[in-house]
Amino acid sequence: GEIKSSNIFWSHSSVSKEERQKVLGTKGATIWFTGLSGSGKSTLATALEKKLFEIGKPSYILDGDNIRFGLNKDLGFSAKDRNENIRRISEVCRLFADASVICLSCFISPYLSDRQQARDMHQQSGLDFIEIYVSTPIETAESRDPKGLYKKARAGIIPEFTGISAPYEAPVNPEISLDTTDLSVEQGVDEIIQYLKKHEII
Ligand code: PPS
Repeated sequence: GEIKSSNIFWSHSSVSKEERQKVLGTKGATIWFTGLSGSGKSTLATALEKKLFEIGKPSYILDGDNIRFGLNKDLGFSAKDRNENIRRISEVCRLFADASVICLSCFISPYLSDRQQARDMHQQSGLDFIEIYVSTPIETAESRDPKGLYKKARAGIIPEFTGISAPYEAPVNPEISLDTTDLSVEQGVDEIIQYLKKHEII
């Protein structure tokens, strides 16, 4: 979008990308989880974060707890608000990745164009972006219903609920797809770690 301020300038760090990477031990990247509510995004990310720390790689999870209660507390679940939610999150991810941290983003992010925008942003900054489609079908997610939200959505108490009364646009070419219906958390994390090693992200 358009920049509203005038008389603003990019400022440049006196620490090079290479120096930062050397100290932090990783080149930073964004691992973008997308999928329905209850699909297993946060569970996988939490286990992945633990694993990354065990091998000395700094990572940080962005999810509803640290974003929708803070930075994005002014946003709801209309299409427009979700676009803005994901736009801001994408910018935060880019900053983390640029700071040589592996940023784990855990949002439904239901729109293809919003996720494409996040990917483009990273590409323009020369940063790795790995999209993980947590493809767990709605039947599984709804049967888990850890927060009782599907029940409320079916009853019409929650409007615009993803998968029930709001759209979810599945990724076309995700780097990784994981259906957690019959997959253990450990298996899922192993698959992600293998990918990250193979592509020299860790
Ligand atoms: S989005 O679409 O990416 O902007 O959504 P996100 O920021 O990930 O927030 C999703 C979590 O908010 C809860 N919630 C809802 N989800 C979907 N639709 C509606 N209307 C809604 N209202 C509240 C829900 O607990 C989601 O949590 P997760 O962790 O995905 O289960």
